[in-house]
Amino acid sequence: MTETRTIPPSGGLRGELTVPGDKSISHRSIMFGSLAAGKTIVHGFLQGEDNRATLNAFRRMGVEIAELPGGVLRIEGRGLHGLAEPTDVIDCGNSGTTIRLLTGLMAGQAFFSVLTGDKYLRKRPMKRVVNPLTSMGARIWGRGGGELAPLAIQGGGLKPAEYDSPIASAQVKSALLLAGLYADGLTTVREPHLSRDHSERMLAWFGADVRPFPGGVSVDGQPRLEGREVFVPGDISSAAFFMVAALITPGSELLIRNVGVNPTRSGIIDILQEMGGALELLDQRELSGEPVADILVKSSDLKGIEIGGAVVPRAIDEFPVISVAAAFAEGTTTIRDARELRVKETDRIAAMTSELTGLGGLVEAREDGMVISGAKRLRGGSVGSHGDHRIAMSMAVAALRAESPVIIDDTGCTATSFPGFWELLAKVGK
Ligand code: S3P
Repeated sequence: MTETRTIPPSGGLRGELTVPGDKSISHRSIMFGSLAAGKTIVHGFLQGEDNRATLNAFRRMGVEIAELPGGVLRIEGRGLHGLAEPTDVIDCGNSGTTIRLLTGLMAGQAFFSVLTGDKYLRKRPMKRVVNPLTSMGARIWGRGGGELAPLAIQGGGLKPAEYDSPIASAQVKSALLLAGLYADGLTTVREPHLSRDHSERMLAWFGADVRPFPGGVSVDGQPRLEGREVFVPGDISSAAFFMVAALITPGSELLIRNVGVNPTRSGIIDILQEMGGALELLDQRELSGEPVADILVKSSDLKGIEIGGAVVPRAIDEFPVISVAAAFAEGTTTIRDARELRVKETDRIAAMTSELTGLGGLVEAREDGMVISGAKRLRGGSVGSHGDHRIAMSMAVAALRAESPVIIDDTGCTATSFPGFWELLAKVGK
């Protein structure tokens, strides 16, 4: 995973493109498809490493999943109580969504399982799901008193939960909703701001009784889920790299087709528009319960803004590339209320601060965010990905507007969420 790439400055990005399928929706399509009765067909499944970890986990629990041409999956659902005990440790790779959602699912199973991951995942906090699941009746062990993977789970016999989550996290919410499917009665999760609601939407699509309300959501236990057809839209978190690339590179005009624009994910569009970015949503439509649009982006003069509060979870994975946009904006951008960035695939506040500073950017790290003075210029040089796919791709975007080539080390990690990123960047940059 130590592929080094050199990205030269770009004279503009032009044309039309599609980005690979949404990572969050792809994970959930396998999970709910496996728990449903009958067949589920998934179109546009993301063939990234994170999603393959989820796919392999369900195969290890006896689910038959056929990979058909064109990114189509056929899942033979086994019903809510049809999973088999995995006979070995399940490796979740780099994927926080896989390990945290599976912890919730495993808590509901009357069997024993062990979940682990790569060296980055084994450093990430797990008590945020372990503690509430334990209060529902699951028994879970992990390093550091249950904070760190590997996690060993003896599930079964759950009672429903009423949980007030201190953080807006879709992984926490979804883990509890998955466990709640196995309890008798209503499980309720409240969160300080609404995090992405793909689990709620897809559970409803598969026939569960899901009741969103202001500040939270409830799910009724023991539903009968029915296999469905799922169309996975392009991942807005992947499209974000091309949005910022086109905005900051003079002479650009890009049409990104078929992007998921669920309002719990589209904070990046609001933020970039507030910065003065020319972004237009065209042909808005709905596909298997998720809003979708084409996005037209043109190069723009950006200005610095203040970012905090409810928009933060709506753009949580986009802050590395937002910090790149801010580096090329007029004035100062302040990001606050984003402490969660410290516990992503890497500490993204520290990583972006050090990499942008290394190219001459004016960035100050704060405990819960960053202050970026838009110097509007970066020099070329060498940077690192910190093993984090979104840091690698953000630095590739920065390179397009740098004064000379940027050499990015350890870029293999982009396969986590965006296979084909480098080829696509080269194609629209021609
Ligand atoms: C995800 C939720 C978010 C996000 C991650 C995917 C999901 O994590 O950062 O990339 O699919 O539920 P948190 O729940 O930790 O905020």
